[in-house]
Amino acid sequence: MVKICCIGAGYVGGPTMAVIALKCPEIEVAVVDISVSRITAWNSDTLPIYEPGLDEVVKKCRGKNLFFSTDVEKHVSEADIVFVSVNTPTKTQGLGAGKAADLTYWESAARMIADVSKSNKIVVEKSTVPVKTAEAIEKILTHNSKGIDFQILSNPEFLAEGTAIQDLFNPDRVLIGGRETPEGQKAIAALRDVYAHWVPVDRIICSNLWSAELSKLAANAFLAQRISSVNAMSALCEATGADVSQVSHAVGKDTRIGPKFLNASVGFGGSCFQKDILNLVYICECNGLPEVANYWKQVIKINDYQKTRFVNRIVSSMFNTVSGKKIAILGFAFKKDTGDTRETPAIDVCKGLLGDKALLSIYDPQVNEEQIQRDLAMKKFDWDHPVHLQPMSPTSIKQVNVVWDAYAATKDAHGVCILTEWDEFKTLDYQRIYDDMRKPAFIFDGRNVVDEAKLRAIGFIVYSIGKPLDQWLKDMPAVA
Ligand code: NAD
Ligand code: UGA
Repeated sequence: MVKICCIGAGYVGGPTMAVIALKCPEIEVAVVDISVSRITAWNSDTLPIYEPGLDEVVKKCRGKNLFFSTDVEKHVSEADIVFVSVNTPTKTQGLGAGKAADLTYWESAARMIADVSKSNKIVVEKSTVPVKTAEAIEKILTHNSKGIDFQILSNPEFLAEGTAIQDLFNPDRVLIGGRETPEGQKAIAALRDVYAHWVPVDRIICSNLWSAELSKLAANAFLAQRISSVNAMSALCEATGADVSQVSHAVGKDTRIGPKFLNASVGFGGSCFQKDILNLVYICECNGLPEVANYWKQVIKINDYQKTRFVNRIVSSMFNTVSGKKIAILGFAFKKDTGDTRETPAIDVCKGLLGDKALLSIYDPQVNEEQIQRDLAMKKFDWDHPVHLQPMSPTSIKQVNVVWDAYAATKDAHGVCILTEWDEFKTLDYQRIYDDMRKPAFIFDGRNVVDEAKLRAIGFIVYSIGKPLDQWLKDMPAVA
């Protein structure tokens, strides 16, 4: 029986391995992690991450050919294929701080693999890593190998949160990079056989190691670039009276461009886009390509500009001050159908409003108070470390109140901000919300989910990203 072990039971390791176990009943899959609380949760009825369809997959295989364990060394030593899916945060100190990837967790995983291995292994990079990381890992493994053969593969993951199971069941492509030696090709074939259980072979792409590593960074950079492009257009739409939804619809109809990833928003979030672009920027700088680095940097700058612009719109519309005013925040996760808040634009928007002394009442269907308080207190990039290594959250922020209902959040509020596109925000009883709010009642829609005409008919002053502005907002221009 082939044995697979995955180091890192996170958003990628957990769902990916659960799907491999489901589709390959004859393979034994162990997912291991240094975080005891994460593993305990994977073995319980309440999984550590919310992902539609994940519960069913885990329930079907757990205890049969899918195991979650903290006994990292035992499972690694027994495995034929070891996936590494640990955190790769942005460095906060030292060389490359604020840009380069911190490979501390990756390196410690590689050294541990070398220490405990007694048989040949294929080691698969699943984490997103800088180009040429495989070379460094290969060096660590071969210099400590005691005669064991390690083959390194790069197999980056392209799933998106909220649709992870769907994406894993039916991927656009699976990418496997390896050495161009006979041993390297044999390792690629072994991993291809695993995916071929359910992925059509023409969607399994094989390449050299560096192409696979760079393709992952490039894919995320291209996706994020589309969002920054449409968000840049949204500012111009507001200035001219064009409607960004109409513009992106028209632009996306060009088959060379396509309709996806053209929704204007308060800004992109999530654990990877910013981290991976910063990483790409750093690699370009290290390779003497400042023009290329600056080009990609701009994608992040526009994203930051969009979040700042949104906060400025709120404050300037409300007579240039939100001090002491209750503002309801609907949605805190970085997108719908996930409880993940890593790099969510809600953090920057809330911090901006708190800086202007607003009182926030926050509601998200999947994010609890502890997480929100922790996010608002945490320093940039600290979130991307194993949970038990993150700094303890200091005393909670008193201006923030977290509630479990949109109506409680909006009652007596001066303004409402929609920061995540949860479906339930489309069908709220906005008449009831209006009746319970202070007047004038404002709605700032950072996800373009509400019907502005209906809300204006109720009496709201509405701001929707990239849409023609109310006279009220025109009279109070935002200073970005
Ligand atoms: P995560 O933080 O959810 O999970 C990483 C896990 O690794 C944590 O549970 C941590 O405790 C564990 N870990 C760290 N060091 C370890 C060690 N030495 N031994 C055992 N366990 C260890 O992160 P994630 O979102 O799953 O991302 C993992 C990687 O995959 C990152 O490089 C990320 O860029 C990439 N990625 C993420 C996504 C996504 O949607 N989240 C998608 C594609 C790629
Ligand atoms: C993204 C990529 O889509 C995945 O392919 C990749 O594997 C993953 O990053 C990763 O490497 O971590 P994810 O961050 O989970 O996946 O979610 P996305 O659907 O890409 O959304 C990212 C952010 O962009 C969200 O905040 C979302 O609201 C925003 N977005 C997305 C927009 O503002 N407009 C859009 O049109 C699309």
